[in-house]
Amino acid sequence: MGRWLILSLLVVIPAHTRGAAPPTRPEGKDEAATRGKKALLTKSYNPPTMAVSNRDNAWKNWGLKQKPDDFDQLFRERYGLHPAPYPNDGLPMGLRHAPMKFSAGKGLTTDCLLCHGGSVFGQSYVGLGNASLDMQSFYEEVVGGPRRTKPPFTFSNTRGTVEAGGMSVYLLGYREPDLSLRLTRRDLDLNDDLCEDVPAWWILHKKRTMYHNGGMDVRSSRSIMQFMMSPLNFASAFPHAEKDFEDIREFLVSLRAPKYPLAIDEDQAAKGEVVFRANCAKCHGTYGEKWTYPNKVIPLEEIGTDRRRFEGVTKKFGEAYDKSWFAKDYKSIYTDGYQAPPLDGIWATAPYLHNGSVPTLYNLLNSKTRPKVFTRSYATDGGDYDEKNVGWKVTVPTAVDAKKLTPLEYRKVYDTRKVGRSNGGHTYGDKLSEAERMAVIEYLKTL
Ligand code: HEC
Ligand code: HEC
Repeated sequence: MGRWLILSLLVVIPAHTRGAAPPTRPEGKDEAATRGKKALLTKSYNPPTMAVSNRDNAWKNWGLKQKPDDFDQLFRERYGLHPAPYPNDGLPMGLRHAPMKFSAGKGLTTDCLLCHGGSVFGQSYVGLGNASLDMQSFYEEVVGGPRRTKPPFTFSNTRGTVEAGGMSVYLLGYREPDLSLRLTRRDLDLNDDLCEDVPAWWILHKKRTMYHNGGMDVRSSRSIMQFMMSPLNFASAFPHAEKDFEDIREFLVSLRAPKYPLAIDEDQAAKGEVVFRANCAKCHGTYGEKWTYPNKVIPLEEIGTDRRRFEGVTKKFGEAYDKSWFAKDYKSIYTDGYQAPPLDGIWATAPYLHNGSVPTLYNLLNSKTRPKVFTRSYATDGGDYDEKNVGWKVTVPTAVDAKKLTPLEYRKVYDTRKVGRSNGGHTYGDKLSEAERMAVIEYLKTL
């Protein structure tokens, strides 16, 4: 437990919510965004959680006798990491060399890009949610090192999703309201089965509230500093980094979605836009130069998607958060469901819904075709992309026996019958004709 407390890092916070003014970009924001990008891609905000050798020796945990020649690639594939599209000392996105806190030399730490750096068509993007990540194996085998220590809670139940909410609940339990460390942990209702899909950063600029439940004002830079709650950070680290995080937030809201890289049938897309405006725009907004975005949270009963993410982060955590340093400017907002996200770059962000339970847009818009149990390669090349249905190619495994599969293999199976993983709800596409549905999908590629 203690060891894992030291090794843990991170994260984000899902909280609850209140209305707010639309985001604007006054003068000086571009400079701030440039500083923020630099801070995000070059600085470390958590001291090293492991030695450099933990990564170099990871293969020893793979049942191999010697280090394979293509170790770097195998390392990325095993844990679902992607090459960094910026200078990073040869490390994939999410890992970073950093000076040791209590001794000379460098160690390794993780950063936001572990979860917020993804790839599609083999191209890495800062701000695309990492839908390949096996955070559990990464922690057990790399951070845990040769002893493969089990963490005190589950980092991920199924590959491509993370328990970011649980991490916040766990780590805030070790902090006083002023963020000084406590010796014993308060249980703020720790749940580690929320199965969260990581949202793309490029939709933030349209949002007034963020997180899947719309639980926080998008202007809060302190909220995204929750990832700094590594117990190696003293309370003083937070105010020290606050200016950087204001800049990082500016960088995040300056990001825009990448364009769909393949051909689009413009006639079909134009037909799809008409259908979209009639059936989808009231929740998801309109697109193009004069876009609109209603920033709506849809009650759980109405949207009907899995309730666990919503219910699993409780008021107890919200109250502790609201008393803490993080909430000085923006408190939790208590909502009643999930926010309908802007669909910019939606072609790149499969799987869909807040729990990643639906592999393609076609499945999303025709609910009876959603696979109950599925697995995929977790590679992100063109060959793994389902161009017709828009999303990831999946296969349906024949026999899924948790007892026969290793935990690592079992995490590759998305079983929608499990807690937090149901794929029901959001049936707004069901009433469309097949022609209308395909046209909407063509239109969605243009966003
Ligand atoms: C362990 C994975 C992980 C790490 C590391 C992480 N995040 Fe996140 N982030 C998430 C998840 C999951 C969500 C969605 C939370 C929810 O509502 O359930 C999220 C949500 C967000 C959002 C809101 C997005 C939206 O549209 O609602 C922002 C902004 C954000 N993270 C910024 C950061 C920053 C900045 C860092 C690093 C300082 C960071 N995150 C580190 C997983 C992570
Ligand atoms: C009543 C409001 C509402 C309507 C109407 C609606 N949606 Fe949604 N949509 C939502 C909400 C809320 C979510 C998030 C649900 C969740 O993640 O649990 C969502 C999620 C989605 C997602 C997945 C987003 C992601 O990042 O995973 C897509 C794609 C989408 N909707 C497309 C559509 C299309 C296309 C239509 C019209 C046929 C439509 N929606 C109609 C409210 C709506």
